[in-house]
Amino acid sequence: MASLGVNLDHIANVRQARKTVEPDPVALALLAELGGADGITVHLREDRRHIQNRDLTLLKEIVRSRLNLEMAATTEMIEIAQRTLPDMVTIVPEKREEITTEGGLAITTNEGYLTNVIQQIQNSGIPVSLFIDPEKDQIEAAARTKALWIEIHTGTYAEASWPSQQQELAKIKEATARAKHLGLRVNAGHGLTYQNVEPIAAIKGMEELNIGHTIISRSIAVGLKEAVREMKNLISHPRKELLFAQQR
Ligand code: PXP
Repeated sequence: MASLGVNLDHIANVRQARKTVEPDPVALALLAELGGADGITVHLREDRRHIQNRDLTLLKEIVRSRLNLEMAATTEMIEIAQRTLPDMVTIVPEKREEITTEGGLAITTNEGYLTNVIQQIQNSGIPVSLFIDPEKDQIEAAARTKALWIEIHTGTYAEASWPSQQQELAKIKEATARAKHLGLRVNAGHGLTYQNVEPIAAIKGMEELNIGHTIISRSIAVGLKEAVREMKNLISHPRKELLFAQQR
């Protein structure tokens, strides 16, 4: 059964729109946990457009589930991770001009550099996950870096319409099986919604889904605790017909 990591970046986006103190992602992390979040995820970006250093420091103090820090593989971020000691670091590619993370890491072309970064972080006792597209070459390279986890990028699946969405789903399923075979642990995320999450949650071997935008959007209508509870229900009990289709 996949667990749920709730990404709080979009709460910080609303705060930063006015550069004020509300809404506070730190305070709301507690509500996400009360709603059943198995983990809290934040992306500390180089440009600090949403999550701030203060958020990360306080979240480390108050999160009772697991704190997953998304970050670029830069010297500044490595130092912050080693100082803060989150429960997991997820390395993502980062471009200043992008609206959100676009695509997975190019591990095959940066293998030496990433291997070194991963070693530094994992030697500090923090397991590393690599955000990658569901591609055979990237998965094999990820295993060679000795990262303990990958997070499969589900953005292309989320944006596709039927029948290509079925093909994207098949790719993610195959990528999950390949990664598990190579000894990697597997998470997934990006672009998942209440409408498209169940087939991904039903993939055998999928450990955690990191979901942000759709939960924060729904929380405006029903409150964060309830929005998390609804998502947690969906991924804990994906509809049976989907489960059977996935495991064939
Ligand atoms: N996983 C990663 C690596 C991400 O960069 C993001 C977006 O910050 C997410 C998951 C969550 O994506 P979404 O907000 O579309 O649910």
